Amino acid sequence: MKDIVGVILAAGEGTRMKSAVPKVLHNLWGMPVLLHTIRALKCAGIDRIIVVVGYKSERIKEHLKGFEIVTQKELLGTADALYRTRKALFGFDGTVLVVCADAPLIKTDTILKLIHMHRDEQAACSLLSAELRDPTGYGRIIRNDEGEVVRIVEENDASIYQRVVPEVNSGAYCFDSKKLFAALDEIMLRPKRGEYYLTDTIDFFKRHKDKVVAHATDDPSEIIGINSRNDLALAHDILRKRIIEEIISGGVTVIDPGTTFISSNVTIGQDTIIYPFVFIEADVNIGKNCSVGPFCRIRSSTTIEDDTRIGNFVEITRSHIKRGTKINHFSYLGDAAVGSKVNIGAGTITANYNGKSKNKTFIGNDAFIGSGTILIAPVRIGDYATTGAGCVVPKGKDIPKGSVAIGVPARILKKSKRSHSK
Ligand code: UD1
Ligand code: MG
Repeated sequence: MKDIVGVILAAGEGTRMKSAVPKVLHNLWGMPVLLHTIRALKCAGIDRIIVVVGYKSERIKEHLKGFEIVTQKELLGTADALYRTRKALFGFDGTVLVVCADAPLIKTDTILKLIHMHRDEQAACSLLSAELRDPTGYGRIIRNDEGEVVRIVEENDASIYQRVVPEVNSGAYCFDSKKLFAALDEIMLRPKRGEYYLTDTIDFFKRHKDKVVAHATDDPSEIIGINSRNDLALAHDILRKRIIEEIISGGVTVIDPGTTFISSNVTIGQDTIIYPFVFIEADVNIGKNCSVGPFCRIRSSTTIEDDTRIGNFVEITRSHIKRGTKINHFSYLGDAAVGSKVNIGAGTITANYNGKSKNKTFIGNDAFIGSGTILIAPVRIGDYATTGAGCVVPKGKDIPKGSVAIGVPARILKKSKRSHSK
């Protein structure tokens, strides 16, 4: 979309989080809060996105490679944060879509609806609202007798009558760029808080007879602002359910959604079954017709190909498992490349960390790893090779194709029945 610029306000300190980490960098199912918000805008087709940073900006910028960044030096509130984009947006004539970085659950569809309403209504400002059972902490939308939005009142400034208003401000708005900066010029400092409120632009527009409209989302959970650890826990819960619904709708059986934890950026193929108490971290791809769990943890940067069985008490990280392999009981595989149709016996461990560095384990196709094998990486097990139960394969050892290794440390038997039979 050419005539629209997205602005993400991410400069705030987030004192209510009680954290040394800026609140927008807190992890939410495998991604910083801020990146969820950015993703929603990108998916809505918004090509130009400006992020306003301030508190611990250097740390935030590390996550924003390739983005247009504006710095708010003094944290003087949301209106001031947006005002900092003035130079970057000089000469721009169109829609400024503003979202708060601390509201990561906003949906792409909702952003698109807001943009369409803004265009249809030709408003100075169109904002996204929601009706909450408990509106505590949010700005309340105040409407006149005709139902028009006339003002937003923040929690601290609200009267007891205004506090019971269930309709709240999500912090997402579309503004007409020219009218926006005219309004920001006029916003007054709120002396009690020492901040300029972006919400005060509404009052300004109404006084200047400019149109303000609100679109109420039908899913209030998407406007959750992450201001405290409780909010973060709530966001985890909401997003977890959303992710699982999406995975299920792709043809995956999830036996117990209540005990299944799947992060963002996970793909799972059709007809795979996820058993209870499974935790899957970000950037994991699982193929079709697999079974995973119960009680296992698949960590980041792992690919599991089709027809694979991952059983109970198995942990896998940074590994690639080819199709048809079975890892059924009590195993740890880290930094491993495992071939197809491999059997990993119960209790197999890759000792991938020597205290200084992580090392790789390679296991060839059709290998048979006996129960309780310890593979001290870097190590290589050839195709069709077998390790006996309790075998310890020392680092640097290469178990040749088709051979059998037994004992501690592993010694290679000359012949392998398995290789002959293949
Ligand atoms: C804000 C809104 C409130 C709305 C709520 C929705 C105002 C005055 N209030 O309140 O009406 O219901 O969001 O979640 O806007 N930020 C900056 N610079 C600053 C201050 C904040 O960039 O100087 C950023 C923060 O990083 C955050 C966003 O703006 O991402 C909102 O700030 P926050 O302090 O969380 O405002 P709320 O109290 O939640
Ligand atoms: Mg907030």
